[in-house]
Amino acid sequence: MTNSVILLVTIFLFVNLVNCIDFPKDIPQCKNDDQSCLQQAIDEVVHNHFSGHRGLHLIPIDPLKIRSMLIAQNSESPVSITLKFTEFLLIGFKNMKVYSSSGFKKDIMNSNFEVDVKIPSLVLTGPYEIKGRVLVLPITGHGQSNLTLENVDAKIKLLGHPETKDGEEYFHLTKVKLDFDITRLRVNFENLFNGDKALGDNMNLFINENWKEIFAEINQSIAEAISEVLLIAIQGPFSAIPYRKLFLP
Ligand SMILES: *[C@@H]1O[C@H](CO)[C@@H](O)[C@H](O)[C@H]1NC(C)=O
Ligand SMILES: *[C@@H]1O[C@H](CO)[C@@H](O)[C@H](O)[C@H]1NC(C)=O
Repeated sequence: MTNSVILLVTIFLFVNLVNCIDFPKDIPQCKNDDQSCLQQAIDEVVHNHFSGHRGLHLIPIDPLKIRSMLIAQNSESPVSITLKFTEFLLIGFKNMKVYSSSGFKKDIMNSNFEVDVKIPSLVLTGPYEIKGRVLVLPITGHGQSNLTLENVDAKIKLLGHPETKDGEEYFHLTKVKLDFDITRLRVNFENLFNGDKALGDNMNLFINENWKEIFAEINQSIAEAISEVLLIAIQGPFSAIPYRKLFLP
């Protein structure tokens, strides 16, 4: 009994990998260049299937697991820190809302995919290690941390090219470009300065008061780390479903 279930699962996965799959019936499908339909469809997938969707080959996106992120600012920067996060979670994508989009046209060569989204809050939580200087103050520490990005307004651009597999054309996503702004950054690093609570509390306060200057220095590193996992998440559906099958006939 157990063996046959395993066999069935194996065969199912094998078939899925070998043959192209059809567009899942429980996901709204849109006509060519119907941007408002597309925006609603993306919202619906994100809100209802943030834990992943097998038929779409979508990995869980909330929480989104990120293996590591390194923010290494050079010594000329006012924020010359080496900040490393490992095995952390990014929480909040399920509340994302698309407010504008372009591209995603049937003519794959002339499609510049872009979606603009708002996310009320993105929380990055996990272990950190920091060393360096923040606006003249030395900083050092390691422990648990969380960073909250409030009211994220992001432009997500998808770059790629058509690729043919077994006679079907797919969109091969090669890069996600992310630009974003926020209205507030809140930071909490536990165990700064070897656990010296007074120094640590002061430093957290200082960072939170000067969040704007700090964010201006580190936003691109954060964007790059998030882009890398978004690439993997968005690649799933595009690599599994032939491009023409993404659209309503
Ligand atoms: C962030 O850190 C603070 C202090 O450790 C904690 O109270 C809070 O629950 C954390 N938030 C999240 C989302 O992890
Ligand atoms: C993000 O970083 C770039 C380069 O450091 C900077 O020019 C830009 O102003 C930053 N954006 C925000 C919103 O702070």
